[in-house]
Amino acid sequence: MDKFSRRSFLHAVALLSAGAAIPLPSQAFGLGRKLRVVLVGTGVRGISFWGRRLAEQYSEQLEFVGLSDINPGRLQFGKEYMKVDCPTFVDFDAMLRKTKPDLVIVCTTDSSHHEQIIKGLAAGCDVLTEKPLTTDETKAQAILDAERKYGKNLIVGFNYRWSPYATKIKELLMAGEIGEITSVDFNWYLNIHHGASYFRRWHGLMEKGGSLWVHKATHHFDLLNWWLDSEPAEVFAYGALEHYGKNGPFRGTSCRSCAHKKECDYYWDITRDSHAMNLYVAHEGHDGYIRDGCVYRNEIDIYDKMSAQIRYANNVVANYSLTTYSPFEGWRIAFNGHKGRIEAWLDIPWMKNENLDQASLHAAEMQQAESTDVIHEPIVLYKNWQDYKIIQVASERAGHGGGDRRLHDSIFANPGGEEDPFGRAAGVRDGVMSVLVGVAARRSIEQGKAIKIDTLTDLKPMAKRA
Ligand SMILES: NC(=O)c1ccc[n+]([C@@H]2O[C@H](COP(=O)([O-])OP(=O)(O)OC[C@H]3O[C@@H](n4cnc5c(N)ncnc54)[C@H](O)[C@@H]3O)[C@@H](O)[C@H]2O)c1
Repeated sequence: MDKFSRRSFLHAVALLSAGAAIPLPSQAFGLGRKLRVVLVGTGVRGISFWGRRLAEQYSEQLEFVGLSDINPGRLQFGKEYMKVDCPTFVDFDAMLRKTKPDLVIVCTTDSSHHEQIIKGLAAGCDVLTEKPLTTDETKAQAILDAERKYGKNLIVGFNYRWSPYATKIKELLMAGEIGEITSVDFNWYLNIHHGASYFRRWHGLMEKGGSLWVHKATHHFDLLNWWLDSEPAEVFAYGALEHYGKNGPFRGTSCRSCAHKKECDYYWDITRDSHAMNLYVAHEGHDGYIRDGCVYRNEIDIYDKMSAQIRYANNVVANYSLTTYSPFEGWRIAFNGHKGRIEAWLDIPWMKNENLDQASLHAAEMQQAESTDVIHEPIVLYKNWQDYKIIQVASERAGHGGGDRRLHDSIFANPGGEEDPFGRAAGVRDGVMSVLVGVAARRSIEQGKAIKIDTLTDLKPMAKRA
């Protein structure tokens, strides 16, 4: 028997998006057909994770009825890569009108997410968007208003919550192992391969990705909000651009055309990456999107050094930093509580006593292969007046620590199944709250003062998340 039913999908969407607070769209119940899905944004994330993987793994449950992208060449390549047979549209509005989808998946450049989200909701569709929900407070408010106005469901694809390692931290905190939490130290390190990749393309422009405070750190702030089960109230931050962009000793337009190939540490030969050539370089003529842009371009205006203090509504204080040119890729976090401390980290090379291949770490994280090696990652639990305990968590390196495939299953394989004890589903409020920390950090740097989250949108931070 087909495990999936449309009714259960919609039930799942409602549970995932807003803690089941939104009424289910009753007119769509019991149609006895596959879910009609459209995808907008046929870039690397769209056609792989939300494209080919969905089409291959959930063909019983859903069908793609339309694909859209402003680049007609990439759109055509995306359709072939996904191996689907559906119409393509450069005009997103026309796609909504003609295909009448149930679900719109948004995978475009961050700064345009709000356009497709709001149009999708207005057209009577549920919407599933990639992170970050959006890039500034005005767009966040517009999304909040649209969600309220149209009464449809909006899910934010926060995949990291679903990795076994992140979930184990949540479980320990929920169990009260260290008592009431008072402070957190959280450091994220992007290595010179992964970190540099953000400076090669649109992510390097504030207007496109809202800076890494939003584009990247939305993941981290969402984890923090979820782990602490509270909402951010105030942010003070410092940030600077000291390594990439104008700081480079020389510059060009793209690595391919550069005169400094030999002396540049960041030279990347895109011609050796056939997927990137087919997806991007072959279609540059349509929109001028250069995938191997120079990391030292003068136009880069985001920060590459970021540090913030976040005060939560429950009075926890978090110290956060993001480094974008680290020799290794990894992160570490420590939660301090009245009864002890939890320390967790991933991929700090000397701690593992192993030589991780830094160039391929990010590729492994992004890949969507189904068979994955299980690795064990430690979490250390210290209880005051007692010896420490090391908890080994069975984990995996593919698909964002295994979060990617679990997020998919939660939506499409086991929709409306048992309630998740860890509350990993993320809705619009979670999406907004994670983005607002980054927005507040930007405003704090600009204004040299702490920024209160409740001045940014009409959401009032709650000491305990709803
Ligand atoms: N959750 C994760 O771990 C994760 C990982 C990678 C990317 N992402 C997110 O996925 C999204 C896409 O990232 P990507 O790396 O695939 O980017 P990309 O640049 O490869 O693709 C973006 C696509 O959107 C298209 N586009 C831009 N504006 C558009 C518009 N107004 N209408 C229609 N199409 C438009 C572009 O032509 C391009 O094909 C981003 O929001 C990114 O933050 C999330």
